[in-house]
Amino acid sequence: MLRTRLTDLLGIRHPIIQGGMQWVSRAELVAAVSNAGALGILTALTHPTPEGLVREIQKTRELTDQPFGVNITILPTLKPVPYEEYVQAAIEAGVKIVETAGRNPEPFLPALKKAGVVVIHKCTSVRHAVKAEKIGCDVVSIDGFECAGHPGEDDVPGLVLIPRTADTVNIPIVASGGFADGRGLAAALALGADGINMGTRFLATREAPIHERIKELLVEADERQTTLILRSLRNTARVFRNRVAEEVLRLEGEGAGIETIGPLVSGKRGERVWSEGDPEAGIWAAGLVVGLIHDVPPVAELVERIVGEAESIIRQRLPGMLVSG
Ligand SMILES: Cc1cc2nc3c(=O)[nH]c(=O)nc-3n(C[C@H](O)[C@H](O)[C@H](O)COP(=O)(O)O)c2cc1C
Repeated sequence: MLRTRLTDLLGIRHPIIQGGMQWVSRAELVAAVSNAGALGILTALTHPTPEGLVREIQKTRELTDQPFGVNITILPTLKPVPYEEYVQAAIEAGVKIVETAGRNPEPFLPALKKAGVVVIHKCTSVRHAVKAEKIGCDVVSIDGFECAGHPGEDDVPGLVLIPRTADTVNIPIVASGGFADGRGLAAALALGADGINMGTRFLATREAPIHERIKELLVEADERQTTLILRSLRNTARVFRNRVAEEVLRLEGEGAGIETIGPLVSGKRGERVWSEGDPEAGIWAAGLVVGLIHDVPPVAELVERIVGEAESIIRQRLPGMLVSG
């Protein structure tokens, strides 16, 4: 077993988090992750209304009695989102862990803290990690350039971002982006993190509620199969490189704006990738870590394997390198 400040604070057995994933982190995956001793996180905005989120929280509770969280992603959207209502719904449903991401979560902190919620803020730069600590977040999850979804605009990979963050903030740190196995977990701990957060790796698990064809594609793909889109709009996203992503890049090269690009990157089209198994149906997030995914195990087996491998690296491989003299 690996005990860290993160396992103590969240009351989980293993220092592993499944980050919020739009459309994907639903009750079945989240409960499987939490039952495996890691932390599963639902995604609020997967549900069109706060009531829908509450139903998903209840469903998750029927599947696990272990801690789980809710992700609130604050990003620029065409249609205004009632964030406060989602936050309130999560609090009233008794959620004790919230992962915020995107923009500054400060407006929601008073309500969350009053309700005794542990707030994990996920961000992509040291300056935002410092700010998160200052405004009272309990944990900072630091997403490196490798990550699926939004890596920010600074392009700093985890190998620098994690130790820089560890040197700068005092609250527990979760290393995110590019983690898939025990080598990554051991490395993250060595770099000063208290645990890891994974997204893409959890897509390729038996319990992930996505089409089998996409899981197979993740196994087949290598680390060159992702690309960064929407940089021209300063809303960079790392996604699987398909024809839609290439079309977006072409339009960006021509100086197109969100009016032209919007329909291509719509959430509705992306959702069809997961439900219909057509990898070309829309844009879908995937990280560089696709290069490290070679199978589709049950979540419990994956978590055990990652922890077992990290322990053996720490207990055997590294001490075996120590020589006196
Ligand atoms: C399909 C998918 C959807 C995601 N959706 C969200 C989201 O809605 N909100 C969020 O904060 N992060 C989202 N992420 C990012 C993950 O929570 C996590 O930070 C990221 O995947 C870590 O990088 P990794 O994929 O290399 O493990 C998503 C990731 C994936 C793969």
